[in-house]
Amino acid sequence: MNVLLFNASPKKNGATQEILAIMKEQISTDVNVDMLCLGDFNIAYCLGEKCCYETCTCIQEDDMQQIIDRIDQADKIVIVAPSYWADVPGQFKVFIDRCTPYSDTNPNQEHRKLKAGKVCYAVALRTGTRPMECEHIIDTIKHWCGHMKIEMPDSMYFCGINDKADIGLYQDQIAKKAIEWFL
Ligand SMILES: Cc1cc2nc3c(=O)[nH]c(=O)nc-3n(C[C@H](O)[C@H](O)[C@H](O)COP(=O)(O)O)c2cc1C
Repeated sequence: MNVLLFNASPKKNGATQEILAIMKEQISTDVNVDMLCLGDFNIAYCLGEKCCYETCTCIQEDDMQQIIDRIDQADKIVIVAPSYWADVPGQFKVFIDRCTPYSDTNPNQEHRKLKAGKVCYAVALRTGTRPMECEHIIDTIKHWCGHMKIEMPDSMYFCGINDKADIGLYQDQIAKKAIEWFL
């Protein structure tokens, strides 16, 4: 099995990464684990030209294909996204826009397809205490999964998270989910 741990934030040493690090510790050594942080990639904004509706290819050449290839290699993906202004971080939204050539968002057009049978789990986190913002982020990831033909069977979220140290409180809960998700 190939697992991709996907940090949907620009930051590689924060709470988002800590959640993925705890998960990684629980994954058996015979599983191939890939880990990425969106902040490490150069992903240009979608220019809205809609050329990909016809060609199934983006006119821009950057790191996007590299990320798509890594998603395509994975059987299971975990996407962890913090709340930025009550939504996903801008880098992740740009990434989603650029997935258009691989999505069925334009039903009458052809599109590229990822390998079938992938599963994605979503995790959201925020500093504020009300769950609504996290639920919105989970919905955004679910929406992306739907159009990418990826199943999303489960998710979780954490409120009241300022930084990496706050994740310690939830270490057992995260480890338990990882065992369940990567059995
Ligand atoms: C630009 C920015 C905007 C943020 N906006 C919100 C917000 O709207 N609501 C919230 O609860 N937390 C917000 N936060 C806090 C983050 O969701 C929280 O600190 C999270 O733990 C960040 O994860 P990280 O440590 O991996 O960067 C924001 C943080 C940043 C940097």
